[in-house]
Amino acid sequence: MKPVSLIQFLIEERRAGHINAELSLLIEVVARACKRISVATNKGALGGVLGMAAGEGDAASINIQGEAQKKLDVISNEILLEANAWGGHLAACASEEMEDPQQIPDMYPKGNHLLLFDPLDGSSNIDVNISVGTIFSVLRCPDHVTEPKVEHFLQPGTEQVAAGYVVYGPATVLVLTFGHGTHEFTLDREVGSFVLSRRGIRIPEETAEFAINMSNQRHWEAPMQRYVGELLAGTEGPRGKDFNMRWVASMVADVHRIITRGGVFFYPLDAKIQAKGGKLRLMYEANPMAFIVEQAGGAATTGRARILELQPTALHQRVPVFLGSRKEVETATHYHVEAD
Ligand code: AHG
Repeated sequence: MKPVSLIQFLIEERRAGHINAELSLLIEVVARACKRISVATNKGALGGVLGMAAGEGDAASINIQGEAQKKLDVISNEILLEANAWGGHLAACASEEMEDPQQIPDMYPKGNHLLLFDPLDGSSNIDVNISVGTIFSVLRCPDHVTEPKVEHFLQPGTEQVAAGYVVYGPATVLVLTFGHGTHEFTLDREVGSFVLSRRGIRIPEETAEFAINMSNQRHWEAPMQRYVGELLAGTEGPRGKDFNMRWVASMVADVHRIITRGGVFFYPLDAKIQAKGGKLRLMYEANPMAFIVEQAGGAATTGRARILELQPTALHQRVPVFLGSRKEVETATHYHVEAD
């Protein structure tokens, strides 16, 4: 079979009526920016990109989430902003690293899409050379809105017209959905283009592998304790089989494993993060990943409700996340709903 490039795939999607020319251009631009982030990430210590970004005085720079920023967080954010400013495909964009939406400079034409991104997810892993990634979500800008404000971004995940992530691992891989299946592209570094490597990915319904930060166990709610307790009971538990555990602490890497060989991922509510509503961000992480996972036949909930149906209340809102193989997500969700 002849290799299919991302560009060829986008043309096919346009001909199939799944996307329009503007969305096709948007994805090309994001993919090109992610190639630049991939190059910066791959340089490691040689590129002078490791470590913390400088803030005021001797302090590290702090982002809107109250987290210290790595140099690569800042570089990746700038690459995505700069790449998306001038193409005429965006009405505005929003980044996990910035408090407010970024408007398109007046000197450039505006488009009809809103782009949201987490420029470098899992950035605590950069300095130790473990996979990190970029996550993005695309919404339509409401008609007649020329200067989109926060309220225009607050659309439920069901309104996403595209979502994707790029994992910067041993290979750089782009995973993409337009709501017609989930597809994977691998970066051919010599040629410099993304090439289709899996079309119509399906996550197995059942699994024997779970991902969770076990160090938070004592802070979890009772239904989560019950659920994980059952998995840990192995052959003596209700599933009658042993479960394996993996936790990369880069959501992109954990989700990529799940869409490749199945599994479930949990970042549940716990007593430490109760006041924040969860750890992961609805608009930059939960919604795009939920869209990708559902399009691959999996499920994604907050433990109580389908993520994609949540009405967002804030741009940087956090939510609990349960996603992956359908049966296990449904069981864990059922335990929470039943206990309420
Ligand atoms: P960040 O981008 O700030 O490094 O956050 C990473 C996210 C997500 O990618 C990962 O699944 C989770 O936080 C890891 O959380 P723990 O630090 O609790 O392991």
